[in-house]
This record gives sequence, C-alpha cells and structure tokens, in this order.
Amino acid sequence: MRLVLAPLEGVIDHLVRQLLTELGGYDLCITEFMRVSDTFMPERSFYKLCPELHNGGLTPSGVPIRMQLLGQDPHLMSVHARRAIELGSHGIDLNLGCPSKMVNSNKGGAVLLKEPEVIYNLVKSMREAIPDDDIFSVKIRLGWEDPQEVHEITDSIISAGANELTIHARTKMDGYKKEAIKWEAIAPIAKQDKITLTANGEIWTGQDAINCQEITGCSNLMLGRGALAMPNLGAVIKHNQAPMDYAQLLQLLSRYTKFEIEGDKGMYYPNRMKQWLVYLRQQFPQAKELFGLIRTLTKTDEIIQVLDNEIAKSVRLANK
Ligand SMILES: Cc1cc2nc3c(=O)[nH]c(=O)nc-3n(C[C@H](O)[C@H](O)[C@H](O)COP(=O)(O)O)c2cc1C
Repeated sequence: MRLVLAPLEGVIDHLVRQLLTELGGYDLCITEFMRVSDTFMPERSFYKLCPELHNGGLTPSGVPIRMQLLGQDPHLMSVHARRAIELGSHGIDLNLGCPSKMVNSNKGGAVLLKEPEVIYNLVKSMREAIPDDDIFSVKIRLGWEDPQEVHEITDSIISAGANELTIHARTKMDGYKKEAIKWEAIAPIAKQDKITLTANGEIWTGQDAINCQEITGCSNLMLGRGALAMPNLGAVIKHNQAPMDYAQLLQLLSRYTKFEIEGDKGMYYPNRMKQWLVYLRQQFPQAKELFGLIRTLTKTDEIIQVLDNEIAKSVRLANK
C-alpha cells in the first residue's frame, strides 16, 4: 500500500506537510497546485510553493514531494513541468479535478474532464517534456457530471503515457457532498490494471481506508481532509497505530504555532489555526470547544495564551 498526502490549496503547505509526514505513514506528498496561465512563473514561485526543493524535494523526515501543475496550454505546462523536475520535484502531478469556478473559467482543473482529447494532448506533451524515469501522474474526478465519463477520461490519460492516476471518487458536480462518494466507480479501472492507481475521497478513519480498498480494489490511497482531522491518520492506516489523543494533539498544535510564527506567513496564523481546528473538531470533541474559545480572537498572542492554558489543563488532568 502506498499512502499519499493530498494537495489542499491554502491548507496543506510545507509546514503542515512537515508535521504530518513526521507522524509517519506517508510515502509521497503532492503540493498545492501551481496555476500556469499565460506567463512563465519565476523560479521563486516554485520555491514558495514547494520550499522542500531546497532539501532535495524531501520533507525534513525524508518523504518525497511532487509538484502539482494546473493549466491547459500544453507548451507552457510542459515548460513548467520540466523546470519543476530540474529544481528537484519528484515527478509531476497534473490537476484535472479542481472545481473552482475561477480556475475552470480559465480552462484549468476539472473543466478539462469534459474534453478527453484536450487531456490527451496535454498529458502527452507534459509526459514527453520530462525525463522518462520521472513519474508523471494525473489527478482527476470521475467526470464532470456523469461518473461513467471516467472511462473515456482514463483511456485518454493512459494512452497519452501517464504513469500514475489518482481518482477522487466524485464528479465535479458532486462538489464535496459526502453522500456522493462513489468508491465503486473506481473498481472497473483498478480491475483493468493498466496504470498505477490511487483512490481518494472520504477516508477519515482506519476502517474507511479498509472499506475503500475493498470496494475499489485499489491498495494505494490518498488522504486529504481526513489527514487534517486526525493528524496521525497516515500511521493509523499504514502501521495500525492508535489515533492520537487530545494531549498529543495539543503538543502538535503548539509545534505548529511555533513553526507558523517563525515562518514567513506568520500573519496568517490566527486564520490558519482556526481553519485547522474546523477540521480537527470532527475527530476531537475538545477541539470544538477550543475552536469556540479562539473563534473571535484575531491576535496571535491571544490564541497562544488560550492554547497554553489548554495544554496546562491537559497536563493537570493527566497528573490527577
Ligand atoms: C481546501 C481544499 C483545497 C484543495 N486543493 C487541491 C489542490 O490544490 N489540488 C488538487 O488536486 N486537489 C485539491 N483538493 C482536493 C483534495 O486533494 C482531495 O481530492 C479531496 O479533498 C477529496 O479527498 P478527501 O476526502 O481525503 O479530502 C482540495 C480540497 C480542499 C477541501
């Protein structure tokens, strides 16, 4: 089984990747997407999105990072793919699943799912632009509206020479509706066994991972929101570790705080902390209360104070 940490734009950046991969279980991370529209992105944009390029394309705990590109122009996308590889990205991932209206109106992301021929040309051009021994992967949804579209889309991607495919088991029109997940739609593709496949979507627990593997017939999994809601989900799935408890979570958040305020995006810390707690409260009832305590706070120091109080409380409880 291979476990991949999903790209989550604006949520899973290099700091979160560092924290989550240190907890174990992950074999690969995909970056948030780099949008390639009509100009060539400067080198600093590659490093900004993927600072791990300064470290051989690895997280501090040694997990490889693959840069994700989003766009539709075969030439520009190929040039960016080649540059990312030269800078140390471990392969290239093409985003064909992003449902954002803005991205789609620029003909990037999921809108291309409507045009398998365009996909074919894009994949072929990008695949040929990078060295043969670098992996070229594509991330899709099942289709724009009808999950049956996945067959034609997948055929295009495979015949254009992609090495790996991740399928988020919903259509673009399904958005993120939980009940719309269709792991079973991945099964026929897995059965064909024509490409290295990864299943993605709605894996929140170890049992979800087992169910997803059984239903899809696909052993490789990609974890997104579930990995934020239970930070050691990778190790829970891969190594049968117990889910982390609240005291451990607080220690993790305290480290995260330190990273954020020392990093270059410290001013976003209050919002980013709230954003993470929104995910965490799904798995930790106490995180719901913590979120309630910081919800209206806007200053970093105030949030740190609340977190410190919470840690002191949990230490007192543990010593009782
Ligand atoms: C906030 C957010 C940002 C996302 N950003 C990206 C992205 O940059 N590239 C991408 O391919 N998918 C992106 N996705 C989709 C996820 O990678 C993943 O396919 C989706 O969340 C389903 O998996 P999950 O149920 O494990 O979260 C994003 C999803 C969310 C919720």
